[in-house]
Amino acid sequence: MTAVRPETTAQRVSDTAFPPGFVWGAATAAYQVEGAAAADGRTPSIWDTFSHTPGKVLNGDTGDIAADHYHRYRDDVALMKDLGLKSYRFSVSWSRVQPTGRGPAVQRGLDFYRRLTDELLGAGITPVATLYHWDLPQELEDSGGWPQRDTAYRFAEYADIMGRALGDRVGVWTTLNEPWCSAFLGYGSGVHAPGRTDPAAALRAAHHLNLGHGLAVGALRSVLPNSAQISLTLNLHQVNPLTDAPADVEAARRIDAVGNRVFTGPVLDGDYPEDLRADTAHIVDWGELVHDGDLAEISRPIDVLGVNYYSPTVVSQGDKSADNARNDGHGASEHSPWPGAEDVSFHLANDRVTAMNWSIEPQGLYRLLTDLAASHPELPLMVTENGAAFDDYISPEGVVNDPQRIAYLHGHLDAVRRAIADGADVRGYFLWSLMDNFEWSYGYSKRFGTIYVDYSTQRRIPKASSGWYADVIKRNALPDSED
Ligand code: BG6
Repeated sequence: MTAVRPETTAQRVSDTAFPPGFVWGAATAAYQVEGAAAADGRTPSIWDTFSHTPGKVLNGDTGDIAADHYHRYRDDVALMKDLGLKSYRFSVSWSRVQPTGRGPAVQRGLDFYRRLTDELLGAGITPVATLYHWDLPQELEDSGGWPQRDTAYRFAEYADIMGRALGDRVGVWTTLNEPWCSAFLGYGSGVHAPGRTDPAAALRAAHHLNLGHGLAVGALRSVLPNSAQISLTLNLHQVNPLTDAPADVEAARRIDAVGNRVFTGPVLDGDYPEDLRADTAHIVDWGELVHDGDLAEISRPIDVLGVNYYSPTVVSQGDKSADNARNDGHGASEHSPWPGAEDVSFHLANDRVTAMNWSIEPQGLYRLLTDLAASHPELPLMVTENGAAFDDYISPEGVVNDPQRIAYLHGHLDAVRRAIADGADVRGYFLWSLMDNFEWSYGYSKRFGTIYVDYSTQRRIPKASSGWYADVIKRNALPDSED
């Protein structure tokens, strides 16, 4: 029998409420929503090349048209306003504003982001701009891509261009989104663009992404007003050993090193961890890779850390099962995206899964946030992505009911609220995603949006979760469970 806990109204409110000023947002990324792939001087990025390569993306889908946000941004901002969003996190397509990745910017490309941000500001929505969400100009990949040191300097130049162009209207900036994916899926397992499968290139890419981040922070600081907030968004893996056996604990350490501390080490703590260097010493020469002065650039202070969380990571040692790739959640490949930890096995945390086959475990988000708060108490945090794909469809009545997404969001927002109550300085939450979009190697087969996109007509239909989220935003609180 369940005991009834006596509660006062005040306790009940604080059991559901978020702090005043909590930032409620939703996120997208350029290649996933914009379309207009060849409009106004834009040239191919590595994702255009990759998606047009047969066999790389499910059903041969590409981002050529996507959700046509490039042309429909006004309507989309109106939908955001209906939702009551306080903030919109979008990314800039590098090859739209600087087609070759070098030299002067293209005015027409910059103008799109000026129009978008003006529209947002006019609707009372704070723009949050991410400079890099995986879409390197193809020309820079042709010159060596992220494994090549020069790419970091090109990225800083692009950051300078964007800071000058939008610094008067964008106050919150993110350098990179999920550099783990850029480095290890792009150059390690090859399931993401540019599709290379070379562990040394993946580690070199990780270092140059870190360096590019640090140089871009410097470039942005020198052109933005002091009030600007600069961040980096990481998809930190919330790693758990399958058992307490020393071998599983060791597997978790390795995955934590090459999944998390390869970024948090240099960015937040000023150096690459010794254990990571040792695990990967047979793959890359760290002494040659990391130049004098790099770590000082990379560890420039940031104002906030962006955290993307979808599902926890459960690992064990040995037993290289056939399910490895599937269960690490990052797509099937014969090539591991985990240099130095290739023989680690991955497991589902439980069998309550989303359409991505990712376990639903809100407590993982609570742990991630409270662990970060414990290790870096002075660093404000922002959940820059959280959400889930389900097999949404339009009912005969013309509506899209997504109760599983509502349950997912409720559980994870409650985890954020509990983390805040336990002392984590979490400033906001961005739902992934505002609308259905191009889910990378899964193409349009996976729907993460709180707004449904009918790709044949580009009609937008807010799903039931939209109304639920709008209500949460309005109250600045979760509904009581009996609501
Ligand atoms: C985002 C992508 O940044 O990360 C999403 O743009 C995607 O489309 C998500 O679903 C995946 O995150 P992760 O942590 O599984 O790589």
